[in-house]
Formats: sequence, structure tokens, C-alpha cells
Amino acid sequence: MPLGGTMACEKPLAVVTCTAPVNIAVIKYWGKRDEELILPINSSLSVTLHQDQLKTTTTAAISKDFTEDRVWLNGREEDVGQPRLQACLQEIRRLARKRRNAWDGDPPPSSLSCKVHVASVNNFPTAAGLASSAAGYACLAYTLARVYGVESDLSEVARRGSGSACRSLYGGFVEWQMGEQTDGKDSVARQVAPESHWPELRVLILVVSAEKKLTGSTVGMQASVKTSPLLRFRAESVVPARMAEMTRCIQERDFRGFAQLTMQDSNQFHATCLDTFPPISYLSPISWRIIHLVHRFNTHHGDTKVAYTFDAGPNAVIFTLEDTMADFVAAVRHTFPPGSNGDTFLKGLQVRPAPLPAELKAALAMEPTPGGIKYIIATQVRPSTLWGFFSCQRGPPRLGPAPCPYRVSGRKPECLWLLCFIHLLSKEAAGHW
Ligand code: DP6
Repeated sequence: MPLGGTMACEKPLAVVTCTAPVNIAVIKYWGKRDEELILPINSSLSVTLHQDQLKTTTTAAISKDFTEDRVWLNGREEDVGQPRLQACLQEIRRLARKRRNAWDGDPPPSSLSCKVHVASVNNFPTAAGLASSAAGYACLAYTLARVYGVESDLSEVARRGSGSACRSLYGGFVEWQMGEQTDGKDSVARQVAPESHWPELRVLILVVSAEKKLTGSTVGMQASVKTSPLLRFRAESVVPARMAEMTRCIQERDFRGFAQLTMQDSNQFHATCLDTFPPISYLSPISWRIIHLVHRFNTHHGDTKVAYTFDAGPNAVIFTLEDTMADFVAAVRHTFPPGSNGDTFLKGLQVRPAPLPAELKAALAMEPTPGGIKYIIATQVRPSTLWGFFSCQRGPPRLGPAPCPYRVSGRKPECLWLLCFIHLLSKEAAGHW
């Protein structure tokens, strides 16, 4: 997809493509103490998912010939004047200016005055409770940072786009510390444990509906902050201890503790939605059937083998361990028989087909609901650092799979330019490009 309409004579100063992952909160963020700076009323903790299954890809180009900033999302041009997009752009340019002012050698190429064109695509349903804004704004922050040569912490840039986005800047298990300062400088994301820490952990996304949600997170949490006494109690008296306990469970790979707390926190978040006035309800009857299925599955095994969590939508995110995944998928297939899409019902990681044992079927005691779950995405935690490459093409930049093998993070952009240029030249020489 071209980034601009009149690219023929435009030679961009820099073109960067990056990808970013989705994160799923196990201790939920719900409620802001500062709407403009996007500062939360409680800390939160999430698991960053593998990009093979769910990711946002963003390309940004800057050129002296661009007369205005422009942004496309999933092929449609968006209003670049949106306050959150503006906040991200202004913040990244502020950081770039700061870096240039602090430069004590040759100044970096002057790109600050250039306008930017940005195009972003998700490979999963947007705004359906699958954390699309988190991956989207993390990717925007990261790509803009690369294109403007910013190397500082990007928590603030991503957070100004969407609060949960700052957690997608890191792989593995990530906390967003709420901070105390009024300027938000201490409201930052930090990795609790790396992606390699818990290799057996598996994630199943049960897509109940890919429709856009009725009440967006931003509006929903504003209403909850205004009207829910339960939310205030949760933020002040429940979450601090839960953050500490969840961190312990992750560090010790205590699945039972992790799973129980994940479910309890999801339930409390949805209870605050119900406590909001007028009430907000994100869970559908199918979501409730999934909740019952998980509890009956666990009761049958006499142990907590599977956990659910739901964000601001009806889709369930299931956490389990590798050795339980096939059995649980069999239970899901039994309870929600796929329609005509039997072959494509399960996407992502391979799951060995397993028969449903008669005792488990009896213990579930649930009438099948055909088509209740549209499809399942099987995924895991694994490496999820944001990737990117500098495209050296002369024509209009296009979105597509990033072929450059060089990881952007931790390298100087100058050095990357060289690496990617060499990479592209070697591809060209080998007749691949
Ligand atoms: C339920 O980050 O989408 O997914 O900051 O207003 O953009 P804004 O909200 P957003 O809220 C996410 C809420 C949640 C829980 C979570 O991810 O922690």
C-alpha cells in the first residue's frame, strides 16, 4: 500500500517498517487518574504474545516533499488530528529535538522538520477486544522512534496513544507501574520476566465475535472511574497485593497461582463494569459458557489446569500449559462444534488432535452450542521484541513482511542503515530482491 498519493518525485529521507505484538493483561488496567497524559489508577501486568499469530506492522516514511503528516490504518486514511496520534507525534519529535540538542559530535541528519506518512495493518480483528490498540500504538511509537532516530524509553510515547500499549514494548511478562508523579515520568513499562522464562505456557484465543465492541475501553473506564465505588476499592486495596502475588507466581512458574489470580482479576474487572452506572457488559452468553467450561474442566482434573481472562469484549483468552492444550481444545470442540470451517477452526500453533474422554464429557455436562466460537488462535509467549528494517527502495514504500534479519533494538540507527543496506545489496547480488 503506498503511503502517499504523489510519490513519483518524492525520495523519502528514511523509510522504516516495524512490527509489534499484542499483550493480554492478567492484572487489568481500568481507569485513569489523568486523561490527557493517560496515567492509570492502578498498576497492571500482562503477557506479550508471539508475533507469528498476532501483530501490527507499521511503515513510516519521512520526506522533505511531504507537506503534511498522514496516517492510514488497515488501508483507510485516518484523521491525523486525533489528539492521541498528535500526542505521540509531538512526544517523539520532542525526544528527537532533545537528542539533537544533546549531540556533541556531528549533528544527525535534519529530519525533524520533515512530515511523516504512516501506514499500519493488523493481522487480526481491530477493536474486538484483542488489544489491537496496544499493538498499534506500540508499533507506532517504535517505528516513529526509528525513523526520527530516538533511542530513549518509549513508554510515554506508546502510553499517550493507548495506556496498555506501553506494555507491548517488551516481550515476556511486563508490568506497567502506575507511578506517582503528576507529569507521568514514572508511569512506565518494565519487563518482569523474559519470554524464555516459561516455555511451557500456551495461549488460546477463543474468538466469539470479531465485531467492533459497543463501549470502547476509553469511554468505559471513564464511566467506571466516575461511578463505580468497587473500582476505587479495587485500585486502592486489591491491585497492589495482586501485583506482588502475580509477580511471584510468574517468577516461580506457579501455574496454579497464576491461573487462579488471572481468573479472579478478570472477574473483578468485569464486576467493576457491572458496578458502573449505567452498567457495562462485555461478556456474552458464550463468554459465560466458556467460563463454566473452564471451571468444570478444572474441577474434573482436581487442579487448576486452565485459566480464562476477558478484556473489553466477549473473546476469551485461555492460559494453559503445553501438556493440557490438546485436551482442552478437544473440550472446546465438543462444547462449541465448528460450523463449516472445521479445517480452519484452529489457527496458529499445531495442536495434536485428542479424543475427548467419556468421563470428561460427562463432567462437562454441557449441551453443545454449534458455532458459538468462530475460531481459535493457538499461540505462546516466546520472542516478541519489536522488529524493523530500513527499506532502501526508491519507489513508494509498501507494507509487507519484513525481510531484513536485523533487530533494531539496541543498535544505533546509523549502524542499522549500513547493515540493512548491505543486506539488501547482498540480496540484490544474489538475485533475490
Ligand atoms: C480491558 O489501553 O485500550 O484491555 O488507555 O483508554 O486507550 P486507553 O485504554 P486501553 O485499555 C485496555 C483495558 C483492558 C485491560 C488491560 O489491557 O489492562
